[in-house]
Amino acid sequence: MNASAKSNAVHRFIGIPTAPPDSILGLTEAFLADKNPSKMNLSVGVYKDASGQTPILKCVKEAERRLIETEATKGYLSIDGLPDYREQVRSLVFGDSIDAGRIAILQTPGGTGALRVAADFIVAQLSPARIWMPSPTWANHPAIFAAAGLASETYRYLGSDRTSFDLAGMLEDLNQKTKPGDAVLLHACCHNPTGVDPTPEDWKAIAKTVAERQLIPLIDFAYQGFGDGIEQDKAGLQTILEAVDEAIVCNSFSKNFGLYSERVGSVCLVAADSETMKAAQSQLKTIVRTNYSNPPRHGGAIVATVLQDAELTTLWKQEVDEMRQRIDALRQQFVETMKTTGAGHDFSFLLKQKGMFSFSGLTPMQVDELKNKHGIYIVGSGRINVAGMSEAKMDSLCQSVASVL
Ligand code: LMR
Repeated sequence: MNASAKSNAVHRFIGIPTAPPDSILGLTEAFLADKNPSKMNLSVGVYKDASGQTPILKCVKEAERRLIETEATKGYLSIDGLPDYREQVRSLVFGDSIDAGRIAILQTPGGTGALRVAADFIVAQLSPARIWMPSPTWANHPAIFAAAGLASETYRYLGSDRTSFDLAGMLEDLNQKTKPGDAVLLHACCHNPTGVDPTPEDWKAIAKTVAERQLIPLIDFAYQGFGDGIEQDKAGLQTILEAVDEAIVCNSFSKNFGLYSERVGSVCLVAADSETMKAAQSQLKTIVRTNYSNPPRHGGAIVATVLQDAELTTLWKQEVDEMRQRIDALRQQFVETMKTTGAGHDFSFLLKQKGMFSFSGLTPMQVDELKNKHGIYIVGSGRINVAGMSEAKMDSLCQSVASVL
């Protein structure tokens, strides 16, 4: 330790306790430090191709090439981001189903940034609202809400069999425990961490309850295109928006554009009328200005360039379809290969799950053993990032999983 010994110095930082590592990103730090040559990182939700790379999509490369030629300034964006980007988000997420004058859209640093702005807004404008989250949910949801000072509660989501959706439990909790004006967090598709999504019929029942209980839906839409398809994955969100006049939607282009490190997403607020939208928009802008001031340009410019161009949009849709289909094939291969290990554990329930993740049912002890003995990193809840698996390493992955069962 290189302690500084200035005379009369008072060290206020000494004694600050060490925070626990992040339950998802902390695992990648541990993975990078692991010397095991056959280690595998199946923790954080990042897509990898067959060679183990997280590729830059072809449509993104082409958009970047065009941007290098045409971009004329690195001046600040406005607080709510690029107008072209916002227009494309509106059309991609909402289509023509809602009058554009009722939707405020702010470009944010990723979906996490969007959620934090939304949480700050709920605290500032809708107090004493609490937010109701599914149990389980993405580990960062409660952390973001707590950091914003937003009280959170949970509603039942996963059935006691740990593989099915507990619609009755969810509706009972929302009906009996919420207060009018509370917010309810909904995952639009590819529920993180379980991959267990409501059916269209379930969404109708959820929408009815949300409307009857006068709850504000906060819809996390981070995986558009990874469930059933870019258009299909909007169905739940649309059902909710048909039932209520007010909602907040947070979207992300980390996964479906592979723009993880560019940090590009949006917070979208739907109001009952355009006057209200404008007032709410001004408050959202105040929140942004006092946090990160205005969003980074590059990721938003890429998304806008692709979605404004018919040819690049077609290419993007193909690339999203390819990623989704490959993840589905890996899921299938995992289930089939597990059968050959002789572990006697049927993982077929994984085939019903949607998106990047598979909720394996592995216990925290089994997860630890996988990491310590085999260098395989998955999240403590048993969530495995299927999108990080590879065809070539499937046998050794399944042998390792079988050995901890
Ligand atoms: C995940 O759940 O792994 C992703 O959403 C990435 C993250 O920030 O945690």
